[in-house]
Amino acid sequence: MKIVLGSDHAGFALKEEVRKHLENTGFDVQDFGTHNTESCDYNDSAKQVAEAVAAKKADRGVLICGTGIGMSIQANKTKGVRAALVHDMFSAKATRLHNDSNVLTMGGRIIGEDLAKAIVDVWLNTEFSGDARHIRRVEKIEE
Ligand code: RB5
Repeated sequence: MKIVLGSDHAGFALKEEVRKHLENTGFDVQDFGTHNTESCDYNDSAKQVAEAVAAKKADRGVLICGTGIGMSIQANKTKGVRAALVHDMFSAKATRLHNDSNVLTMGGRIIGEDLAKAIVDVWLNTEFSGDARHIRRVEKIEE
């Protein structure tokens, strides 16, 4: 599975931890940056990640800014992307089962690295339920 990553300065430190974790787990990871803590706009990496996922150049995307909010708003502007802002294990699983989310966003100023890694793991390892009602709702989003 190929995963694309992105962050702004506020998400940089957590993104680095998530990247190492994904690489150690054996995923094919592409990091669109940012690559340091210098102030930058979350929009830019969000758009790169979202477009890579929408174009099926990657299977999933993970985006981290200070709150995860700007990343989720921006990523969801790209057609085909279903970005979910998640800070707990229940939502990580539920958004895969119900929404078939293909981008995960988190806030580096909100959660610590251990919780972020656990969220990423459950989000990557949970398949879409495939239930008719959830398929119908996801199709309505796509419309
Ligand atoms: C940067 O200060 C902060 O606004 C950004 O990381 C993010 O939280 C926006 O939603």
